[in-house]
Amino acid sequence: MDCALDNGVVGIEAQCGGACLCSTCHCYVEAPWFGRLPSMIDDEQALLQYLDDCRSNSRLSCQVFITEALDGIVVHIPERQWNQ
Ligand code: FES
Repeated sequence: MDCALDNGVVGIEAQCGGACLCSTCHCYVEAPWFGRLPSMIDDEQALLQYLDDCRSNSRLSCQVFITEALDGIVVHIPERQWNQ
């Protein structure tokens, strides 16, 4: 989320500032990086389940902390977020 905000990525609003409360940082993480991410916390799972556009590779970007293992990560922003 911080990387997206720092680089002006359209569609990542992060209204709650990364507190896992808003889901405006929703993204889709491509393989193989999705499998390298740490497990979701309960709050993240709870928020995602209410999104109409949730997919099996959905994550809240505020809960994805960039490490060397994620070098080259590819994510996509749900259309609803960049089409507003
Ligand atoms: S910034 Fe609000 S849930 Fe991620």
